[in-house]
Amino acid sequence: MKILAIESTCDETAAALVEGSRSGVRIIKSVVASSSDLQAKYGGVVPEVAAREQIKSIIPVISEVIDDVDLATVDGVAVSYGPGLIGSLLIGVEVAKTLAWSWSKPLYKVDHMFGHIAANWIINGSSFTPPILPAISLTISGGHTDIHMINNKFDLEWIGGTVDDAIGEAFDKVARILGLSYPGGPAIQLAVDSFGDSDVSKILPRPMINDDSLKMSFSGLKAAVLRLVSSEIKYNKTEIAADFNKAVAEIIKKKLTLALEHREVKSVLVAGGVAANKIIRKTLLTVGDDLGVEIRLPDLKYCGDNAAMIGAAAILKPVKVLPDSLKPESNLSLS
Ligand code: KG4
Ligand code: ZN
Repeated sequence: MKILAIESTCDETAAALVEGSRSGVRIIKSVVASSSDLQAKYGGVVPEVAAREQIKSIIPVISEVIDDVDLATVDGVAVSYGPGLIGSLLIGVEVAKTLAWSWSKPLYKVDHMFGHIAANWIINGSSFTPPILPAISLTISGGHTDIHMINNKFDLEWIGGTVDDAIGEAFDKVARILGLSYPGGPAIQLAVDSFGDSDVSKILPRPMINDDSLKMSFSGLKAAVLRLVSSEIKYNKTEIAADFNKAVAEIIKKKLTLALEHREVKSVLVAGGVAANKIIRKTLLTVGDDLGVEIRLPDLKYCGDNAAMIGAAAILKPVKVLPDSLKPESNLSLS
């Protein structure tokens, strides 16, 4: 199945042509345009600005992907219809509906968060093998921090997650407190890299780490960073960033271990923008070594928002809709 996929949930405008099956999805072409440099001036995403940038980028991005493609070989159009910013979502959804209708191709709707999980099926080399189900997914993005069980039919059951801020949101807010740029995740990553291999002192709490549930909390951690920054004792900001990153990694390691102790699965599918974080990647891989479970991490360039993952999701679990009936759902929830 060959799919033209479109992604426009937030400040990335993306299109991709992908082909594949449950055994793996090959990227023929993938283009991502981001307005994050523009958003950085405001210290975060301004929905109105994001929507205007979507309008500017959507046609050039899709044109770049399909320029020399024989449309007769394309089997359908896929689009992420939520969750996300309503103004941004509307652009991708309306364009996808128009293309599917005018080309007389089937239209597939994709939950953006399932798209992140599906990034684990993108073929990344000759030794690629598809993840084995049932699996546990750990989605760590700007708006979500969730643990799901995934069965062989790709049905999802929510088993845990944050009770307040999403991890990416915490990275963005902590970066802002520390005077680092937006988006906060890559900025904190850079600061932590400069800290090198020196030992990180434990200066921040690990909220809910010893709570015997799969619930997580990150707003207290953010508040603790704010208290440290305004305290009498002066810490260097890379030291705070490094311990914040370590605290987050320790918390998700603990919760993932707990989830794996209660559920028998073949693999763990890590997904979302925060899955690009080096310390988190390294820490989660140790859970796999300790418990003998395969930990899957998407390639760095498919952790953040892109359309290849949306195409992969439509191939793994096609949900066909009539163009007339599709509406964006800003608060869409996986399960
Ligand atoms: O998945 P994503 O691209 O968009 C959403 O669906 O939310 O995730 C964006 C989030 C942002 O909060 C960003 O700061 C974070 O992912 N992020 C990172 C890194 N790269 C992006 N967080 C930590 N370390 C990174 N290297
Ligand atoms: Zn995303």
